[in-house]
Amino acid sequence: MNAMSKPSLEPDALDGGTSARLRGDPIAGDRYWSRDFMEREWDRMWTRIWHIGGRLAELPQPGDYVVHNFRHESVLLVRQQDGGVRAFYNVCQHRGNKLVWNDGGSVGAFTCAYHGWRYQLTGTLCYARDPENFAEGDPSGKIALKELPCDTWGGFVWYSMDPRAAPLAAYLDPIPRLLKNRDVDKMTRVIWRRIKVDTNWKFASDNFNESYHLPDVHPSMGIYVVEHYTGHQFEIYPSGHNRVVELGHPSARPIVSDLWVNTLKAWDLDPAAFEGRPAESRLALQRARRTLGPSRGHHYMTKLEDHELTDYFHHTLFPNVTITATPNDGAVHIFRTEPDANDPEKCTFEYMMLAPAIEGVDSVATVAGMRPLREAIPEELTFGVDTVGDFVDEDLSVAVHQQKGLHSRGYTDAHLTEQESRVRRFHEVLNDYLDGRR
Ligand code: FES
Ligand SMILES: [Fe+2]
Repeated sequence: MNAMSKPSLEPDALDGGTSARLRGDPIAGDRYWSRDFMEREWDRMWTRIWHIGGRLAELPQPGDYVVHNFRHESVLLVRQQDGGVRAFYNVCQHRGNKLVWNDGGSVGAFTCAYHGWRYQLTGTLCYARDPENFAEGDPSGKIALKELPCDTWGGFVWYSMDPRAAPLAAYLDPIPRLLKNRDVDKMTRVIWRRIKVDTNWKFASDNFNESYHLPDVHPSMGIYVVEHYTGHQFEIYPSGHNRVVELGHPSARPIVSDLWVNTLKAWDLDPAAFEGRPAESRLALQRARRTLGPSRGHHYMTKLEDHELTDYFHHTLFPNVTITATPNDGAVHIFRTEPDANDPEKCTFEYMMLAPAIEGVDSVATVAGMRPLREAIPEELTFGVDTVGDFVDEDLSVAVHQQKGLHSRGYTDAHLTEQESRVRRFHEVLNDYLDGRR
């Protein structure tokens, strides 16, 4: 890929910068606030896709577990004696008490708080009080927690509520292939924030599926990334996932900032030599990182291709996860948005920063300042009350106002640019689920 051309399209990608292959399904406002629509999403989509349940680093030992609550459902992810992880509905088979009430921990067995039934890590019932008092005999060994399909990728444990779900690898394709040069599974989650926002969950899917908003919502992003769509490659995949690649060098728009100058200097490049030629500085930075990176402890760089040393790769996994791979110390940012249990106009927006190890360095630069390279504990925040991080605050501030606008009788459908084709694509894939085409 040279500096002047767009990145080449992945072999199995459709050009996401054109609407030619889209049906043109309307994106009406009620999708964002109707309770009926919210329930259809639950019945036809959320109960069929793969969800991130937890991170393997949370489950180092047999008996370690995490709970993932999603709307009214609760799923238990448990590290097994054999090293595997299994997923169970978090509900006692006696009379339906929620089995585990906290978010995670470590146990030898799960004991129900109501009548003391006990389950092994494998989910099998191993004790029921008064076993002689069951007409059919002691249920121990015969009854088990209801299990769900469970698998791992990227250091995360995933589960699906659909017993007939396609394998996780097939569901995620081609995202793992696109991220093959990043050892996401070996990275450390140095930031983990869960932010309550008064907007429908789909704002995030829409927002991350276009870069049209960058100049207006993120005016400072042009310091280090090309803002204009002609510097972006938009891709749409048959599986329903999307990607955009943004060239990593300053915008042509004059912006006063030392950031790029300092980046070049940090890699022994003379910023004056690239005055007015930011695209060339991108290529020079690739060469410098290629040459110097490993000797400076950035061993992860040896696996990265040249463009991965400077550019930004936003992967939007249908329906609600975005994985953004960056050249900034190799960090990967993951965003996940989930609906509120009851209210279609509320959601939880989750932000995680994953960082690779850099030899000789024990802390990493983040939106929250320097953080130690160790697993973060989750921070529970509320948008409008807490500061949640520069770019995230910028996106969310629009999202809450868009939610209001989407109620207006004056809005009937989106009027999109070609570069926003992935936005309509997202809604068409959602409609495929809702209408039984997927
Ligand atoms: S509901 Fe769990 S033991 Fe009775
Ligand atoms: Fe944004």
